[in-house]
Amino acid sequence: MGLTVVLIIPLSMGGLTVFCFRQLATNVIRSTRRNCISSIHKPAAKCNNKTDKKHNKMLHQLPIYASGEIVRGFGRGSKELGIPTANLSLDVVKSLPESLHTGVYYGWSNVNNGEVYKMVLSVGWNPFYNNKEKSVETHMLHKFDCDLYGQTLKICIVGYLRPEKNFDSLDDLIKVIKSDIEQAKTLLDQPENRKLREAPFFSANISKC
Ligand SMILES: Cc1cc2nc3c(=O)[nH]c(=O)nc-3n(C[C@H](O)[C@H](O)[C@H](O)COP(=O)(O)O)c2cc1C
Repeated sequence: MGLTVVLIIPLSMGGLTVFCFRQLATNVIRSTRRNCISSIHKPAAKCNNKTDKKHNKMLHQLPIYASGEIVRGFGRGSKELGIPTANLSLDVVKSLPESLHTGVYYGWSNVNNGEVYKMVLSVGWNPFYNNKEKSVETHMLHKFDCDLYGQTLKICIVGYLRPEKNFDSLDDLIKVIKSDIEQAKTLLDQPENRKLREAPFFSANISKC
């Protein structure tokens, strides 16, 4: 059976900005996702301390869907790194499931219900810059010609790549992010990940009641 059932769990009561679609797929689809996740996370699976167990549990909750307004970050993504990012507002960041660990993820995203593009995502405090506020920053693998501030960003977090790290130089940070992007491109081409690009979430109107 190819039927996929999704359960929508609102996580923010004030405004419906973030929500989880838990995939209650048929066994076939569920087991495909499990295989996909464990194949990406073999190193974590070898460890068996409490943190790794929690982390692995979180990975099995993916994909997680979220949306919200794009707000201004520090602007370093475009200016210093040459890797622009769309930052989600703080209320969205706070509404994400606690189990979503800081780190670097890959997935799909769109702006204002437009075309869906591959993306890489950073969740955390950016140790290289020692940010005081946690941020969720999406780098979409598409060049936008217009200003995206104030637009609605939707993201589908599909998989985890690595923990956030500090680096000795900006060049090292850029190199690693570029390698994240290459990994994301390949992983998102896998059939089980590719089909998430078609999720109704990306074209649905999100009510703010
Ligand atoms: C895929 C990806 C991976 C990232 N990995 C790290 C990291 O390991 N350490 C870090 O300090 N910042 C990391 N960042 C965050 C960048 O430092 C951040 O996007 C940049 O500072 C721009 O932030 P701004 O928009 O607030 O200026 C990553 C960003 C992306 C998109």
